[in-house]
Amino acid sequence: MSAAPLAEATAPGKVILFGEHAVVYGRPALAAPVTGLRARAVIVPEDGPDMRLIAADLGRATTLSAARTDNPLAATVRLVERHAGRPLPRGVSLTVTSAIPIASGLGSGAAIAVAVIRALAILGQLPLTRDDVSALAYEIERLHHGTPSGIDNTVIAFEQPVYFVRRSPANHIEPFRPARPLRLVIADTGVRSATKNVVGDVRRQWEADRARFEAIFDACGRLADAGRAALEAGDLAEVGRLMTANHEQLVAMTVSSAALDRLVAVALGAGALGAKLSGAGRGGNLIALVDAAGEADVCAALQAAGAARLFRSDVG
Ligand code: MEV
Repeated sequence: MSAAPLAEATAPGKVILFGEHAVVYGRPALAAPVTGLRARAVIVPEDGPDMRLIAADLGRATTLSAARTDNPLAATVRLVERHAGRPLPRGVSLTVTSAIPIASGLGSGAAIAVAVIRALAILGQLPLTRDDVSALAYEIERLHHGTPSGIDNTVIAFEQPVYFVRRSPANHIEPFRPARPLRLVIADTGVRSATKNVVGDVRRQWEADRARFEAIFDACGRLADAGRAALEAGDLAEVGRLMTANHEQLVAMTVSSAALDRLVAVALGAGALGAKLSGAGRGGNLIALVDAAGEADVCAALQAAGAARLFRSDVG
């Protein structure tokens, strides 16, 4: 029989409703948690003087003392210890599992970081606020992504829809509540895409033609603000129209793909109120806003068009 956990914590995935990429350049964006898809960290006692780190889905295990500096689980433990100003208990094993597809725009890296930080906080009896958890997860995001905006760790640590603007010295974060719940179908192209590469490629293009990219980012920021107003007014038809307009801006940014464009068109053709890629793009997932009457048709059409996986999520 396995030992009873000393600590256990989870964290959700996320979708970006409006404003990915432009958010890196200071424009507003809206994101929401996907509460049904979660990463989980479990810590159990184990003989020995070390901390065993197990990434169960990847079939990888190491110990804290032997882990390379770029091991994300070890980096998270060391970061939390630095924040605490003392070592966490040894003689334990930490196992991470996740239902969130990796490299697919659903925030799997940030969710794993948040779940692990929460579990370590329980293990070490550290009184971390959600802002602390978010700030620590941001440091881990930086290891993976280079220049993350901070929206993923924020929405995942807050576990509620957020309006987010990257700002110095402190980001502008406003949790918000849609006046009417959103019914989202999330469809996976099945193509993995590393956020770091796509964000880096957008940066190169922005450096080569700042005027054009600044105009695209401005358009995305306006769509995010209009999207928030439509969400707060409960105007779902307008939310959908704005989401599709945001997808067009992401196409102009070159972060869409033939598979994403095709599935967006299929969702709209089957009656979705709006559809867009979500996350970094070039693969990963799209989100389609549906109503109760249209949901089954949109799901069937996406499945028939070859979506690798479908998830359902409600916002609000
Ligand atoms: C990734 O979920 C969203 C991006 O805008 C990157 C970021 O904000 O860090 C593509």
